[in-house]
Amino acid sequence: LPGTPEEARVTAGELAAGLIASVVQSKPDAVLGLATGSTPLPIWSALARLDLDWSRVRGFALDEYVGLPADHPESYRAVITREVVDPLGLTPSLVHVPGDDGGPIASAGDRYEAAIREAGGVDIQVLGIGRTGHIGFNEPGSSFASRTRVKTLTEATRADNARFFASADEVPMHCLTQGLGTILDARALVLLAFGEAKADAVAGALEGPVSASLPGSAIQLHPEVTVLLDEAAASKLR
Ligand code: F6R
Repeated sequence: LPGTPEEARVTAGELAAGLIASVVQSKPDAVLGLATGSTPLPIWSALARLDLDWSRVRGFALDEYVGLPADHPESYRAVITREVVDPLGLTPSLVHVPGDDGGPIASAGDRYEAAIREAGGVDIQVLGIGRTGHIGFNEPGSSFASRTRVKTLTEATRADNARFFASADEVPMHCLTQGLGTILDARALVLLAFGEAKADAVAGALEGPVSASLPGSAIQLHPEVTVLLDEAAASKLR
């Protein structure tokens, strides 16, 4: 996308919001796949400017930390509530985060998969990408067939996410994340990336070999993908 980094972020947010809005307009109880982190913020602001009925829309977050108290402000449950559910006016009981049903962690992935299946699957999944090439928290080496499960975060990802915590040590070691297989089951994907730090991961995901060593490359296997990048994130594409 052209323009300054800020202009590109706003445009990307508006374009992604347009895709989501058309899904919600044609299906008032649409199932949205929600990402956290900095990347999707312009989408939520753009959606908040639209006049849409959110009351029946359902949501499933990509991932959640394991080991944070439920009321921690940086748990993805708290982040999704603050950044998506409250500003848009989604119905809180229709929005799910892995492990938030109070059951045992070991089987939380299976329960989350069942909940997504019962909802009829994700209509449109928002994705960011990590420097390691992760989507969700599927770090390099994740199977393309993987489903929601507990994973260990890489040191690079913990360092990147330290900005949300008082110190790097406070970033949890583990997470629950939708698998690459789960993500690929969504009917449409929209991946956003901004900034030079993402350029290698973006080039690998879009143009590199389809390989578990760069989990984002799994999106090449999906028939319905929209990718929205600023100049810096696109700078290593051929
Ligand atoms: C977040 C997630 C991650 C982030 C990625 C980029 O739910 O699953 O894959 O999308 O780590 O993070 P930001 O957007 O903060 O650069």
